[in-house]
Amino acid sequence: MLKRIVKWFFAIFGLDVKRTSTIIRDKSQCYTLYKYLNKDGTFDFETYRQIQEAGNKVKIELVWAIEENIAFLSDYIKKLIGTPEFGICHGTRRGKEQEWFRKYLECEVIGTEISETAEQFPYTIQWDFNETKHEWINATDFIYSNSFDHSYDPEKCLDAWMSCIKTGGICIIEHGSSHEPYGANQLDPFGAHIVQMPYLITTWGKGKYGVREILKAPKKFEGVDYLYFIVVQKY
Ligand SMILES: C[S@@+](CC[C@H](N)C(=O)[O-])C[C@H]1O[C@@H](n2cnc3c(N)ncnc32)[C@H](O)[C@@H]1O
Repeated sequence: MLKRIVKWFFAIFGLDVKRTSTIIRDKSQCYTLYKYLNKDGTFDFETYRQIQEAGNKVKIELVWAIEENIAFLSDYIKKLIGTPEFGICHGTRRGKEQEWFRKYLECEVIGTEISETAEQFPYTIQWDFNETKHEWINATDFIYSNSFDHSYDPEKCLDAWMSCIKTGGICIIEHGSSHEPYGANQLDPFGAHIVQMPYLITTWGKGKYGVREILKAPKKFEGVDYLYFIVVQKY
């Protein structure tokens, strides 16, 4: 039902949520990635931005992050790296995750959101999370995101996130059954099964970062088969 409403909303703006024709990069990596291409084969950022913003607006009332899970992750962060000073949450829509991390960690936590709706929510900046800000580099204790599947280039994106992390710091990627390849489309371009993720992250990390641990989420919504937190640590 939600999918039909999203399609209808996109049609109003003359946009079409296309399912991805599965692009298998190579046989050992077989994840799904929707490609935004101009006619000349170059990357079409403007269509990506428009699709993400339209999707954000149609789902603006929804919150996927769960407070109990953020409390659990806050405890984990404190035990692993001590009290953090600065964290970033990527792709935050209503900004609840940074609100909850701030509550449990009592430190500076901001969120990024590509949509112009960002300005409606506290501690949220309008920003494309595939890019970094100079002041974040090697200056971030932790990153959390449940929006990694919205990246147009997951390797470039995770490299960018990990460049912000201090040595020993962590990036927590929320990965559930809805992030599998079948769920990928123009709005959620990247899809991979949980068992593929450690291989992909280890390959992309090239010895600079890697998977430290995979945590089972204490809570998940009904209809979600599994929900994990992939803890990526910077060496
Ligand atoms: C699956 S929703 C998750 C929203 C929020 N984290 C939650 O738990 O409710 C993904 C969000 O990421 C945003 N987004 C998509 N691509 C983005 C990008 N490149 N940079 C920043 N935000 C992005 C979307 O606009 C959307 O609000």
